Amino acid sequence: MSKFYITTPIYYVNARPHIGHAYTTIACDAIARRQRMLGVDTFFLTGTDEYGVHVERAATAAGRPPQSWTDEVSSAFRQLWDRLELTYDDFIRTTSERHKRGVQALWSKIRDNGFIYKGYYRGQYCIYDELYVDAAGPGAPCPECGRPTETVQEENYFFRLSAFQERLLRLYTEQPDFIRPETRRNEVLSFVRSGLRDLSISRSSFKWGVPVPGDPAHVVYVWLDALSNYITALGYGSDDLSRFEKYWPADLHVIGKEIVRFHCVYWPAFLMAAGLPLPKTILAHGWLLFAENKMSKSRGNIVRAETIVEVLGGDALRYFLLREIVFGQDGSFSFDALVQRYNADLANGIGNLASRTLTMITRYFEGEVPYPSPAAARQTADDAIRNSANQVMAEFQSLFDLYQFSRALELAWSLVGAMDKYIVENEPWALGEKTDDESRARLATVLYTSAEVLRIVAALVHPVIPQATRRIWAQLGLGDIATLDLPSLKWGQLQPGTKLGKVEPVFPRADKNAVERMQKMEEEVPRAGTTAVAQSATNPPARPVATQTLPSAPPAAAVNHKISIDDFAKVEMRVGEVKVAEKVQGADKLLRLEVDLGGEVRQVVAGIAEAYAPETLIGRKVVIVANLAPRKLRGLESNGMIVAASAEGGKPVLASFLEDVPIGARLK
Ligand code: MSP
Repeated sequence: MSKFYITTPIYYVNARPHIGHAYTTIACDAIARRQRMLGVDTFFLTGTDEYGVHVERAATAAGRPPQSWTDEVSSAFRQLWDRLELTYDDFIRTTSERHKRGVQALWSKIRDNGFIYKGYYRGQYCIYDELYVDAAGPGAPCPECGRPTETVQEENYFFRLSAFQERLLRLYTEQPDFIRPETRRNEVLSFVRSGLRDLSISRSSFKWGVPVPGDPAHVVYVWLDALSNYITALGYGSDDLSRFEKYWPADLHVIGKEIVRFHCVYWPAFLMAAGLPLPKTILAHGWLLFAENKMSKSRGNIVRAETIVEVLGGDALRYFLLREIVFGQDGSFSFDALVQRYNADLANGIGNLASRTLTMITRYFEGEVPYPSPAAARQTADDAIRNSANQVMAEFQSLFDLYQFSRALELAWSLVGAMDKYIVENEPWALGEKTDDESRARLATVLYTSAEVLRIVAALVHPVIPQATRRIWAQLGLGDIATLDLPSLKWGQLQPGTKLGKVEPVFPRADKNAVERMQKMEEEVPRAGTTAVAQSATNPPARPVATQTLPSAPPAAAVNHKISIDDFAKVEMRVGEVKVAEKVQGADKLLRLEVDLGGEVRQVVAGIAEAYAPETLIGRKVVIVANLAPRKLRGLESNGMIVAASAEGGKPVLASFLEDVPIGARLK
């Protein structure tokens, strides 16, 4: 029996999962499900990446010990994956003993093979991407996320990455499928061709990591630690290597495009240094955008999967992500597009086909699949449908195997569309009113054809919409879809006489309010406690925060009401420096700012676009109310308020300082 080992990236636990994380995991789940249906021994791994300075800081900011923090966020990921019925076989946590042991074994192997040495690192580091930024000065922005880098000066262990340049280039040539798609492969090729410098692979200025074997003053660089998960989960470094021997090397690592370098350069080099086999393919997909930006916790423009599951169901989310976005390219998410797709393809498409077909079989043939007419009595339209179904089965398979989910689904739905047309043209409801033998025979053929298409589409798209197709399968009277033998799927296997199950709608139409409901649910997400981590790694502590207590004009009754110094002390105003400023699409008055408050960068959405051009704000010191409860404006989360004076009817004027003042200083 052949095997297939597929992995997702392991997700950072500085924030709760959003649909960007769900996107990768759902794609892997669909691939894994299809492999299993093809009879392949499949192992699907996911998990959480729990060490590193930004996770430690997120925990500290929340006033929590890192382990209890990571326990909680890791379990939020796992719970969501379970709610979405994702069929992972193992969930690896980097703080687990089995993982630590494996990382240390890998380190020791690489060291014993002569590829690790001690040196001194002085340079810039982005804590959010855990990326060393070479050849950059203090405070330089991270090339990946644009946030300010931190200067690191410490004694570190180094990995001889430079020794692998030629071998890596040979790998990319000899194994052209190692990096997919081609655009990513080209990026990696030019990066490696431009020369590789040795890589610092330990940190000594903090403790939240896997201790370096033989030198516990150092912890392993979080990317070496994280990448190892793909083998530690299989038992690498333990006494039981049976899983490792069975499944390694991985057949497919699925990742987002921003972590290509780590997977396509560092990871194979680490494995080469340890003398281990290399994964077969690394497949990078694009980003899910929301309000035209990458959906991410730091931008605060995330959408939770839970909201969509609650209103439209898990299949709706899965179908939308795989159908709407061309895998490999960036794609936008919006609630409008989601509901539109849901209604067009699921409720009116496959849902309608199922309910029409099954209801008519129930009504006209007492719930038993009718006998189609023999070949001689068949009409051209019947054969045309059958031919299309055969063609769709063959092409769907090739497209899915190329990970072109969107085209594969489009193709399957073309069959649903053809079937719809066939039903309208053959008018089974009119045939059902007649009792002559010819009409009955014609009706039987039309409904058999319809049920057969339904069965075939359900079988093909089961990996994408597993819940609905499971129900359709049972309603067709075919029992448990898990027993389906996909490789032998062909036209005509539906046995006449099969007794249908209980017929119920699978995709009820979404009403007009669905978009509004989901938007409201997202805006009302409680921001206290651990949910607060969903905003950014740089959140304020998860303690009760003052609600928006700074109305521009106090209510009349409060005019003479004096507040105590304690009341004033509740408002945390700090000096910040504007790092990023840009217009918010579709909102004339709003600017999106990223403001450095010293040790944390906040996203603030401010109504000052009519008074200030974005470029004039970069580098300017401003005053931020830092402990306001976050709120969403145009889908973007605002974590604080910029202080400005506004004369009646005039433009806002930002509060500022004549003397120099350090970033982060508190106003009191
Ligand atoms: N911990 C590292 C990965 C280590 S793998 C050895 C990491 N974690 S992450 O939490 O930032 O998650 C990264 C992955 O989540 C991306 O590579 C991608 O698979 C998924 N996504 C997160 N946000 C996403 C979008 N907005 N769009 C698409 N995928 C997204 O990097």
